[in-house]
Amino acid sequence: MGVLPDSIDYVLLDEPAIARRVAALAAQISADYRGIRNEDFTLVGVLKGSFIFLADLARRLEVPHRVDFIALSSYAEKAEATGSVRLIMDTRADMAGRHILIVEDILDTGYTLDYLQRLFMARQPASLKSCVLLSKPERRRVDVKVDYLGFEIPDVWVVGYGLDFADRFRTLPYIAALKPRVYRK
Ligand code: IMP
Ligand code: MG
Repeated sequence: MGVLPDSIDYVLLDEPAIARRVAALAAQISADYRGIRNEDFTLVGVLKGSFIFLADLARRLEVPHRVDFIALSSYAEKAEATGSVRLIMDTRADMAGRHILIVEDILDTGYTLDYLQRLFMARQPASLKSCVLLSKPERRRVDVKVDYLGFEIPDVWVVGYGLDFADRFRTLPYIAALKPRVYRK
């Protein structure tokens, strides 16, 4: 893995661990949606954090699917939840009558996924499920349903594999904890 960037405290999940878990999630999802038609199944990635997870997951799925994206506001340069979620860019395709799988990087307070589930349910999909790579159960403020979960992690700020801090560290191949001095200002 070489030398860690100075702001990184420790590696929580290395590349092989992530790859194994993503493969297992893809196998489970493929089994659950077996027989589905491409036009009926849409993965909706939540930008920007989920783009790498979605790319790896989608390529391992053994069922046909479409890919769409939605962009929401994240915390403004600091590790703090506001409870208010802002829609930056909506999905393109119609959801009515389709099976929708939300693909999200991390579940923290739960506000973001709760907002998305309400927004999408109003569009009358045939079904709505969520696949989330990471969850910090200690931080939960609202109770949200997750159908496929990668890993539960402690209450630390993590970066890499799509996750950022102030738009940095997103493309590290592993998931690592940031040094608290970096995010606790
Ligand atoms: P929630 O609405 O509090 O559940 O927050 C979810 C969003 O906050 C995620 O989609 C991430 O964008 C961001 N987030 C929460 N915790 C972390 C973290 O440890 N690293 C990077 N992003 C995080
Ligand atoms: Mg996110």
